Amino acid sequence: MSTSPLIETFQQAGQGQVFAFWEGLSPEEQENLLAQAGEIDLAEIAELKRTLLDKDASAALDLEGLEPAPYEPLPEHGGDAAAWSEARERGEEALRAGRVAAFTVAGGQGTRLGYDGPKGTFPVTPVTKKSLFQVFAEKIRAAGERYDQPLHWFIMTSHQNHEATESFFQKHDYFGLSSERVHFFRQGRMPAVDFEGKILLESKGSIALSPDGHGGSLRALGRSGALELMEKEGIDTISYFQVDNPLVRCIDPAFIGWHIGRGSEMSSKMLPKAYAEEKLGHFCTQNGHLVVVEYSDLPMELQRQTDANGKLRFIAGSIAIHLLDRDFASRMAAGGDLPFHRADKKIPTVDASGNPLKPEAPNGIKFEMFVFDALPFAHNPLVIETRRADDFSPVKNAEGADSPQTSRDDQLRQFARWANAAGANVAVDESGLPAVTFEMSPLFGDDEASFAASWGRLEPKPVIGDGLVLE
Ligand code: UD1
Repeated sequence: MSTSPLIETFQQAGQGQVFAFWEGLSPEEQENLLAQAGEIDLAEIAELKRTLLDKDASAALDLEGLEPAPYEPLPEHGGDAAAWSEARERGEEALRAGRVAAFTVAGGQGTRLGYDGPKGTFPVTPVTKKSLFQVFAEKIRAAGERYDQPLHWFIMTSHQNHEATESFFQKHDYFGLSSERVHFFRQGRMPAVDFEGKILLESKGSIALSPDGHGGSLRALGRSGALELMEKEGIDTISYFQVDNPLVRCIDPAFIGWHIGRGSEMSSKMLPKAYAEEKLGHFCTQNGHLVVVEYSDLPMELQRQTDANGKLRFIAGSIAIHLLDRDFASRMAAGGDLPFHRADKKIPTVDASGNPLKPEAPNGIKFEMFVFDALPFAHNPLVIETRRADDFSPVKNAEGADSPQTSRDDQLRQFARWANAAGANVAVDESGLPAVTFEMSPLFGDDEASFAASWGRLEPKPVIGDGLVLE
């Protein structure tokens, strides 16, 4: 039956089932299936079968020599205030020189949020319901204006949400950014396999493919030409953040200054975990390397361990904010060094006769790479502390922790804090939450100082009440 050398290659690799329904497919379906099959690196799949499937899947994490990682504390927690202000100046210099680009990973599927659409289009602000993308765009614009150097912004999408993401930006006129400085590219895909390592079909004519994890961003930065463009533009520092966190300081001069000053190839922000069970990755060291151990991998007894002062021992939580040196990203993009992680999932597929099959229990495995697995390969990797209230309140779940409600409240707390520091009089409860719902654009102020400057110029001062929007 084989009519293409690719089909033979799949058969020889023991993956001929991918073409089980070939004869009954229309010419377009055949073409589509061949294109999908062409994306798959069969040697990589064979290697994953050997390393992740054949050995005991539940093999526990190697805890040998695992220690909490050191980090650079904030001045209010004993850090060197002079070094922090030097870092800030160094970072500002790099921004004025145009050495920094913003990078958002927005390829995830937002399943937990139950939102149908690219997650970056989710409305998050309290009054005007700006989308996550608009919040980031305004922060990136504000930094460009402040340092007199507009920034490039790279956005990694997935096959599922690429077109929808691009057209959202077109529809909103790139939120005031120059379209020439906003770059979209798709991340790679990996096929799902069954527990024997056989690639699964999603339907008779298509393979069950899914995004290869945010670690795929390194390969995708290379493949898409983004790294080349950065080199041409004189950009050597990539400011990486996730699409789910409206509080993120997309461009943080002090962080950039620490990273450059230490000659670090990859730096990360941490914050002290709020409680042992908080779902954050942990910065650790092992065999002289910096590593992140996921919340799902670190045994709970270690997550709960405390030191003599009752403080959590593995306290350094990762909030998925990193800086990457461009040459390091190129090296990682070319090297393919990142490991894959396996996730057992319910994968819609077809039965032997090609009828759709919706499994009730996990029937296969998806493979993903994680960007923080690049840390052990980086020279002089660095972890710095940040303030939760000014950097982290993600929207992950429809309700409860890390939901639209908690994120909205944290935005309001930040607005009220900055307003009160500038001399406004906003009543707040004991958690800092104001009774009124108002909003400020990052273009009005993106930190306490810039807010105070804009507020100082406002005459007459508006009453901060329900529905006020400062832009
Ligand atoms: C993630 C981190 C965790 C960290 C936490 C902080 C992992 C495995 N864990 O957890 O260490 O403490 O965030 O909020 O990442 N994405 C892609 N492509 C993909 C998969 C994901 O672009 O193929 C993007 C998503 O759009 C999102 C981000 O990566 O922006 C995070 O993905 P998610 O799977 O939601 O990670 P968490 O479990 O929340």
